Amino acid sequence: MCGIVGYVGAGGDGTALDVIMEGLARLEYRGYDSAGVALVSNGEIALQKKAGKLVNLREAIAANPMPPSGTAIGHTRWATHGGPTDHNAHPHLGGPDLRLALIHNGIIENFHALKSRLVDDGVVFTSETDTEVAAHLVAREYAASGDLTGAMLAAVAQLEGAFTLLAVHADAPGVVVGARRNSPLVVGLGTGENFLGSDVAAFIGHTREAMELGQDQIVTITPDSVTVIGFDGEPAEGRRFHVDWDAAAAEKGGYPNYMTKEIHDQPRAVADTLLGRTDAFGALVLDELRISEDALRAVDKIVFIACGTAAYAGMIAKYAIEHWTRIPCEVELAHEFRYRDPVIDAKTLVVSISQSGETMDTLMAVKHASDLGALTISICNTHGSTIPRESDAVLYTHAGPEIAVASTKAFLAQITATYILGLYLAQLRGGTYADEAQAVMKDMHEVPAKIQAVLDSMDRVREIARFMADTRAVLFLGRHVGYPVALEGALKLKELAYIHAEGFAAGELKHGPIALIEPGQPVFVIVPSPSSEHGLHAKVVSNIQEIRARGARTIVIAEEGDEDVVPFADEIVRVPATPPLLAPLVTVVPLQVFACELANAKGLDVDQPRNLAKSVTVE
Ligand code: M6R
Repeated sequence: MCGIVGYVGAGGDGTALDVIMEGLARLEYRGYDSAGVALVSNGEIALQKKAGKLVNLREAIAANPMPPSGTAIGHTRWATHGGPTDHNAHPHLGGPDLRLALIHNGIIENFHALKSRLVDDGVVFTSETDTEVAAHLVAREYAASGDLTGAMLAAVAQLEGAFTLLAVHADAPGVVVGARRNSPLVVGLGTGENFLGSDVAAFIGHTREAMELGQDQIVTITPDSVTVIGFDGEPAEGRRFHVDWDAAAAEKGGYPNYMTKEIHDQPRAVADTLLGRTDAFGALVLDELRISEDALRAVDKIVFIACGTAAYAGMIAKYAIEHWTRIPCEVELAHEFRYRDPVIDAKTLVVSISQSGETMDTLMAVKHASDLGALTISICNTHGSTIPRESDAVLYTHAGPEIAVASTKAFLAQITATYILGLYLAQLRGGTYADEAQAVMKDMHEVPAKIQAVLDSMDRVREIARFMADTRAVLFLGRHVGYPVALEGALKLKELAYIHAEGFAAGELKHGPIALIEPGQPVFVIVPSPSSEHGLHAKVVSNIQEIRARGARTIVIAEEGDEDVVPFADEIVRVPATPPLLAPLVTVVPLQVFACELANAKGLDVDQPRNLAKSVTVE
């Protein structure tokens, strides 16, 4: 959940501090409760840390400038153990003379036991964090050996839980040592300088050459070397890769905030995710999966595991993939899947969906599925992240970096990727939809232009949002693939505008939730295409009538030309006609714009909503 940056360069000037502050700014989406930096300078540790957003640290450093240095670590925190105070902010110092500085992402589960042992030995703690324990352990080992890598190795052997740790020591200028277990850490490879970061965004302004580390590895960087060993002390190798996006891709591109930019990136995100997935004849080709066709043909059940918005992408995928392949699909929140006794075997395909590739709940569920013998595929947006590495195969979404904490473009890219996977399975296994897969792909290629058309017609939605800035509760209704869209619309409003919002399956309304309807209650209704099967459209129109009769104020998302909804809608938001299964890719867009605009109207920070973090790397 926290953001971590490390840097070593020939330095001696202000470079290290600049690199760290720039990296922290790019990682602030991971956590923004407090931030801090430690430099090694003239045989001393220089430290500054501040509760609150990065701007507070920046102001503190401006008021009290830090010395020149070529060796530094920095941290932006999402609090777990101990509130967001100056004391609990990282880095933490270790050793009797406080000459070691350490930062941490994750949770050290046995910290109570370790802390009481250290307290018994006379160590005085100044924070409530689990991290300070690690700082003292590494410092103690360093005092014994004078070797920072060896000290880290000896310290991690005592830790349980999930962690990325970075440490510097006043007596070891030009060295940063990192360790990772179940928590992300990547190396940025420079010339005469090297970097460490929670993800490549930390150093993308300086190098696009990177190295991912495996689980349970320790890395030591100096200006001219990168050395990796395992927690067993044996030499190990990281995997080098080139980052295919640059710093500009992560900037706001002229929009007032990342979220608005990312909402507008969506046509590109879907188009790029579709790119290169078909051959010259339109047949799906997924060489990247590297799972044998026979194994995929044998699959008799698919289980989607994910959290939050990504889980809603899985819910949408279930409707489409069962229809196309006749393979039963289940969707489960990763944190629930992990702690029950799921019926899984070698014929089960477990598909994890994660933008970050680091969500701990999802990672643990993937490991659980692998242990049970399932085939695992990860749908992921972040190269070099952990979940793809722990899976048998990966299908990358190409949404580009998603910085705003609330997920938008990654969601559309996830739906797109699950559909590609479903159509590929349909093609592989034969049957009705094997022949139709190419036609569906053709329809999918038309979706980016439709999303653009929705984006170009959002003025009224923005007006409605501003008008509703004082609203206390909003309901969202949908059926079939519109149901997860309703859930996502409610989630966006909750997390961005802090308004109570609920999504319901429209058919469920009469079983209880209709009691919530009172005069003036705003209700968004996602209306299926009139071309939907089984009279679904007419059923939703009836649902609108039912709530309207009880005084609801209806805001209806409906296809162009759908006149049946007109008599029952207080507001109509039009979207282009789209095949029913593809409709979520367009109908969710007005809901994202609405939530973003309403949060703006309330003066809230849409990129970094309160209490949230982009990457939830704790269980
Ligand atoms: O990185 P992931 O896709 O695994 O993240 C999953 C959820 O934490 C994420 O979608 C979350 O619900 C977002 N805040 C939604 O906007």
